[in-house]
Amino acid sequence: MGYIAVENLKQGMVLDADVHDLNTRLLLSKGQKIAQNHIRILKIWGVAGVSIVGSTDEKATDLPPLDDEQVAMVKASIDLVYKKADLNHPILKEIYKNALIQRIKGTFGDSHALSCQILPDGQTLGKPEKLKKQIDQTDIKLPDAPTIISELNQVIADPLATSNDVAQVVSRSPSLAAMLLKIVNSAYYGFPSKIDRISRAVTIIGTKEISGLALGICVMQAFQDIPDDVMNMEAFIRHSLACGMVSRILAAQNNMAQTEQLFVSGLLHDVGKLILYKYYPEHAKACLGVGFSSDTSIFQAEKKILGLSHPQVATVLLKKWNLPGDLTANIVHHHAPGSAPDPKTAGIVHVADIIAHGLAIGSSGERSVPHFDCSVLGQVVKSKESIKMVFRQIVHQFGPMDAIFSNQ
Ligand SMILES: [Fe+2]
Ligand SMILES: [Fe+2]
Repeated sequence: MGYIAVENLKQGMVLDADVHDLNTRLLLSKGQKIAQNHIRILKIWGVAGVSIVGSTDEKATDLPPLDDEQVAMVKASIDLVYKKADLNHPILKEIYKNALIQRIKGTFGDSHALSCQILPDGQTLGKPEKLKKQIDQTDIKLPDAPTIISELNQVIADPLATSNDVAQVVSRSPSLAAMLLKIVNSAYYGFPSKIDRISRAVTIIGTKEISGLALGICVMQAFQDIPDDVMNMEAFIRHSLACGMVSRILAAQNNMAQTEQLFVSGLLHDVGKLILYKYYPEHAKACLGVGFSSDTSIFQAEKKILGLSHPQVATVLLKKWNLPGDLTANIVHHHAPGSAPDPKTAGIVHVADIIAHGLAIGSSGERSVPHFDCSVLGQVVKSKESIKMVFRQIVHQFGPMDAIFSNQ
């Protein structure tokens, strides 16, 4: 049995395993002989590739020719990312292996990974003690939520909300409505016919799911004007989007109903960093500088310099803006999923973050993966094969979603 990309399928090949779409619907069964219309169906539903009887994996054959020095450079960059991770763990090893292959292929490019404008040589903009005092947890001042976020919160909290209620709120922002429609029409969702109205998207995907998705986009938009000398927002959004997409793929693999909530949790997982970048840029630069010039993760640097980490900072905003509790818990516990009320959902975001770092999709300012919690792996990842599937899907689906988010 071997994996063949849909583009390379030929009529007459025989499936060696059932094929599901991202929403776990069965599309074709094991033993099915591939016909031309099957290839079309697989493309429509956004399937990247399938297992075929008697074939060998394609992955090893399509690596570009690289000399030893180039391979050593790629290895050195990924070794830095996973420096603190236990690569003896079979699942982590599989993540490392697949990320290395994609880095060698240059699937996502790595120019964004180091494109954040950060202070050189550990330079800081103030004395840590003074900064720490300024940002005392009780003293974080944040603006109220934009009106549209409050309205979306009300829709999410209302069990009787209808598709029209959602459509009414979303349509107040034509750019948000347009973006939502592009997302639900992308190959990532794989619906066979075009969804042309928000109310129809709500009917198909669900009130809470579409409202949550809109909420996630609005929160990200609220932080779009962060200056480039603090953080390259294009790189930050790409990292966040990758974490969201991988979270959704892992949720679907686990047959979980709340795939959209996991997408939004991943998209917003580092919102605490955005708060620092926007409202406390000097503090943020100090942490980025320490993280870049030493072995310290940003997470640790924040604790050392500010006395609190970005998930703790996020807690303040999420409470003040009254965002849904499940979403808040996944974000607040993304570095310590074992302490979350639902370790499985927080664990999905935790693992997705590690995969996004490995793939070098964008950057959140972090050079290496902070502490990795192996205890959640068994709950989140079923097998090495499921890791391979995650990589195939993200490689196949990231580009179109990235284009939607970067053109908003
Ligand atoms: Fe984080
Ligand atoms: Fe992250």
